[in-house]
Amino acid sequence: MRVTINQVKGMKKKGEKIAMLTAYDYSTAKIIDEADIPLILVGDSLGMVVLGYETTIPVTIEEMIHHTKAVVRGTKRSLIVGDMPFMTYHLSAEDALRNAARFIQEAGCQAVKLEGGVTVAEKVRRVVDCGIPVMGHIGLTPQSIHQLGGFKVQGKTPEAAIKLIKDARALEEAGAFAIVLETVPAQLASLITQKVDVPTIGIGAGIGCDGQIQIINDILGLFTDFVPKHAKQYTKLAEIIHNVVSEYASEVKSGGFPTDQNSFFLDESVAAELSKLTK
Ligand code: KIV
Repeated sequence: MRVTINQVKGMKKKGEKIAMLTAYDYSTAKIIDEADIPLILVGDSLGMVVLGYETTIPVTIEEMIHHTKAVVRGTKRSLIVGDMPFMTYHLSAEDALRNAARFIQEAGCQAVKLEGGVTVAEKVRRVVDCGIPVMGHIGLTPQSIHQLGGFKVQGKTPEAAIKLIKDARALEEAGAFAIVLETVPAQLASLITQKVDVPTIGIGAGIGCDGQIQIINDILGLFTDFVPKHAKQYTKLAEIIHNVVSEYASEVKSGGFPTDQNSFFLDESVAAELSKLTK
């Protein structure tokens, strides 16, 4: 049985912290699912950490659906949230609904996420009213990076902080089951967390959120272009992979790989007959 949105909301009520991670492929998603992580986001961060784009803006819905399907196939228990990419929910509520439905019907995930507060509330309501759970996302919203003028902390002035509180409330009223708070001061994130009944999931938003989300490639030390301040590298997988790949290459060169253990052989009688036939 997969985790439900009611269970996620219940975790806030019980004061249970929520651990959420991103995943983009079958094998990683399977490991995360087996580690009992209740929520997995197939984030459009895919564009940067898997596909090598500079921002999330070029990511298409086809790319998102392709990767979301793989994550769904690798999981049994986690609730999977598909991230709606740039311009798939901006034009109209109908467009938002049509594209959200693709995530649910084609990719098989259980919820979608979209960026924005008051300005997307009407779209969130339309999608939720049709039975599709929505996770909100406010603060630093990477799809608006050009408007925001870079990857900057959001909500630093009283006016900007009040705007974010209004955004969070608008999302809750529109029916969002949880809200990501990205790169906002810890005191503001705690305040928002107190002011809404739905769980807040922080990334660079301090300890006061109801849960945390991290990009799997960051915590594994697999993405090395830059290490965001909000990320903790629990290991250095890029270094480990580099060493393994180098060892493999030197064994191939030296003849140390493959050994008999990694090879297949003809039966002796077949080998003898073949040898006669090829003399
Ligand atoms: O795309 C993503 O991975 C995200 C998280 C950073 C919340 O939106």
